[in-house]
Amino acid sequence: MSSLSVHGAAQVLLPPEPGLPYLRGDAGNRMTLAPGGVTCRDGVIAALEDDPGAEVQVDASGAAVLPGLVDCHTHLPFAGWRAEEYAMKVAGVPYAEIARLGGGIRSSARMLAEMPDGDVLGQARGLADEMLRLGTTAFECKSGYGLSLDAERRQLGLAEALCGHVPQATAITALVAHAVPEGFTPGEWLDAVEGALDHLLSAAMVTALDCFIESVAFDNAALERVGAMAADRGLWLRAHVEQLGCHRSVPVAVANGARSVDHLSMVHADDVALLGRAECAAVLLPSAEVLNDEHAAPGRALLDAGAIGVLATDLNPGTSPVTSLPLVMGLAVRRYRWTALEAAAAVTLNAAWVMGQSSAAGSLEPGKRADLVILDAPLEHVPYRLGHDPVEIVVVGGRVVHVRPGSEWRLGG
Ligand code: NIG
Ligand code: FE
Repeated sequence: MSSLSVHGAAQVLLPPEPGLPYLRGDAGNRMTLAPGGVTCRDGVIAALEDDPGAEVQVDASGAAVLPGLVDCHTHLPFAGWRAEEYAMKVAGVPYAEIARLGGGIRSSARMLAEMPDGDVLGQARGLADEMLRLGTTAFECKSGYGLSLDAERRQLGLAEALCGHVPQATAITALVAHAVPEGFTPGEWLDAVEGALDHLLSAAMVTALDCFIESVAFDNAALERVGAMAADRGLWLRAHVEQLGCHRSVPVAVANGARSVDHLSMVHADDVALLGRAECAAVLLPSAEVLNDEHAAPGRALLDAGAIGVLATDLNPGTSPVTSLPLVMGLAVRRYRWTALEAAAAVTLNAAWVMGQSSAAGSLEPGKRADLVILDAPLEHVPYRLGHDPVEIVVVGGRVVHVRPGSEWRLGG
């Protein structure tokens, strides 16, 4: 029996009550940040107080203790980077134009095709480790850089392999409609995906299907088709929508039972109230907004309407080569006028709900997996000290998996 006790914390972030699947609207503000401790036994949270008899003792004086952070929207695993495109964007070439010139998603598909499996996994494992050190104890993977049936299946297989090699909890999404592959119309590509879906899904434990609805990608009819495929297989529907233009995709996604709509920079004002009522999360990606020079999603209006607000990195080589959820929280607080508590709910319980994991993760509750982060300051410093890495210790499944150099004293070292 293994045990770990965190004692003397200045703040322990607790949900307003146990058993909540998510925190709607501004309900993140009902979480509490009282001094205290946490005890973990055999990989799960055993008590919301310290235990001086536990084998491992963590001194959390001056620190905030949070549930492990959850990144529910990444594009891992991918191959290489696209720094040259970033320079083009900064010089004024729009994302859609870069895509039309053969860059963007197609360029990442070429790099993925050329890179051996071991190298793709090496890059992805390095990034997962970087995320772990920044407090991310669960993350999502996606396909979508294959752009042929064989290559999509290979990327799903690589995602499955990655999930087997990292300490974090994971979920895999098949992004079956990302860019329209060369030689296909959007409809022909979806016909091909539909015909091969069983074969594609046999490569990995997939829990959701995703699609990119945009003028340079797929339209709302495709969203309906991907929704039908997901419903047919008992999978969740997720969708990249309203990123560069407004296509009124939110009502279509909600009508098709979407678990989440992601991006929303250009969401129509009339669709905000719908997200306030729907059991469909609004996943906002502020680092993609900043680096891609997009409009700010109406984050404050979404929470005021009652939406399930979520933040993620969107880690990908094109729009957001960003691994840090603390940085994303900082951008969100400033850009959306969110409180630190609202941002914290958006990267913990609400993000875990998007991944279908909020009964086991996302909050400090007895019985949940013992995934914890210990920060070097109160929670309010996370958005305030933008760019600073606030994470001193990361615990996954009751085991210390990261100690920031210089913080060994917290473990008595
Ligand atoms: O979430 N918008 C579509 N997909 C990614 C970008 C993919 C890429 O540019 O490689 C996103 O921003
Ligand atoms: Fe994305």
